[in-house]
Amino acid sequence: MDETGNGALTLDIFVIKGGTRLTGACRVSGAKNAVLPAMAASLLAEGPVEIVGVPRLRDIATFGRLLGILGAEVTHEGGAGEGREVLRILSGDARNAVAPYDLVKTMRASVLVLGPLLARYGRARISLPGGCAIGARPIDQHLRGLELMGAKTSLSEGYIEASADLLSGAAITFDMKTVTGTENLMMAATLAKGTTFLKNAAKEPEVCDLARLLRAMGADIEGEGTDEIVVRGVRSLHGARHEVMADRIEAATLLLAGAITGGDVTAMGADASTMDAVLEKLRRSGADADAVPGGVRVRREGPIRSVNVKTAPYPGFPTDVQAQFMAYMCLGDGFSVISETIFENRFMHVAELRRMGARIDVSGNMAAVRGVPELSGAPLMATDLRASASLVLAGLAASGTTEVLRIYHLDRGYEALEHRLTSLGADIVRVKE
Ligand code: EPU
Repeated sequence: MDETGNGALTLDIFVIKGGTRLTGACRVSGAKNAVLPAMAASLLAEGPVEIVGVPRLRDIATFGRLLGILGAEVTHEGGAGEGREVLRILSGDARNAVAPYDLVKTMRASVLVLGPLLARYGRARISLPGGCAIGARPIDQHLRGLELMGAKTSLSEGYIEASADLLSGAAITFDMKTVTGTENLMMAATLAKGTTFLKNAAKEPEVCDLARLLRAMGADIEGEGTDEIVVRGVRSLHGARHEVMADRIEAATLLLAGAITGGDVTAMGADASTMDAVLEKLRRSGADADAVPGGVRVRREGPIRSVNVKTAPYPGFPTDVQAQFMAYMCLGDGFSVISETIFENRFMHVAELRRMGARIDVSGNMAAVRGVPELSGAPLMATDLRASASLVLAGLAASGTTEVLRIYHLDRGYEALEHRLTSLGADIVRVKE
């Protein structure tokens, strides 16, 4: 059992009758992993920040509660049309606020408030996130960067306490590509004294989306999307309105739903330029995958060709699509090796896929998938967000009925996925427990 963003508890399940070819077009939401840093950035602004195109997701509701604890007013309202919902955040005085364990433990992205709080108020106290289902996920890079900018950090009773009279610009080289690490330090640097150089920075499109918002708020940033981001500190930042990028991970999941069922699906609003690695693998697997006006379309008629996949920081193949692609490869015509290089424990879907008849051997961070002609429906347990999506894909292609339990994991990152899949012809219903 787990908590939803609004405090309720759900144990809903998906019941999927597989075997239908999915066809049609459906809209992709705004990107969860761009909305969360944008919400954190609102703490830097001396005026309202409006984020346009924000889906109703459990993680976004949880982050909204966190901002509320930090003194912000948060409203989430429908816009004029589909996918136009606006999240409006007016930050309050968070000088003495604390990001509590209760919230941080349910969502690691809470750590994104550290940089903004420190930069704006000179102090921050937030619970140290623990490990999570997919790996240990330390935040040493965030802390080391803030220290290089002059902050003092300490750990007491499970909380990180950070303070700095005024952060100063610094040259910081990350030991590895870290997405939220880059975002946290980029935000902290906007109000620091002097210039910060972030080297070996993450190049993910979500980092670029955040840089666009910060610039609209008055920040001086260049180089996002390259290995080095340069931030010249300014005295203050103002409110702004920001259209958030489309969710490339959700788009990939919908396209894979089309491909795994031998269908023809267009993900409207998806930006092909952020999805090169996934589209390339889809093409090599025998599907047509192309940018079309207003979105990205995938079609597959022939057999699924087995291809190898290795996850890597952007522009490499995203770890957040690894589980979904593995479900697809379970029905490949040969042998596929899937290597996970970002997180140490991201194969939890394997045991569940095996229950459907998949043939997968795992050794360390590699999964060897021998394609089978058919998967059969089964009751399955969702374990984390993307693993849940992979089980749904497998269920759509399997014969018979699949039940996916604990879809609260899925609801963290996909808004009413069942409605969108139903609009493409899938037979999937949510059963309330
Ligand atoms: N790492 C460290 N020390 C650090 C930071 C990261 O060792 O201080 C390691 C991590 O343990 C991991 C690797 O570096 O092995 C990369 O982690 P990263 O920091 O990039 O991950 P993240 O920022 O915590 C974001 C997404 C994840 C996504 C990863 C990788 C958000 C809110 N989360 O996490 O999204 O998988 O980048 O692309 O942006 C998801 O949406 O399902 C999800 C897990």
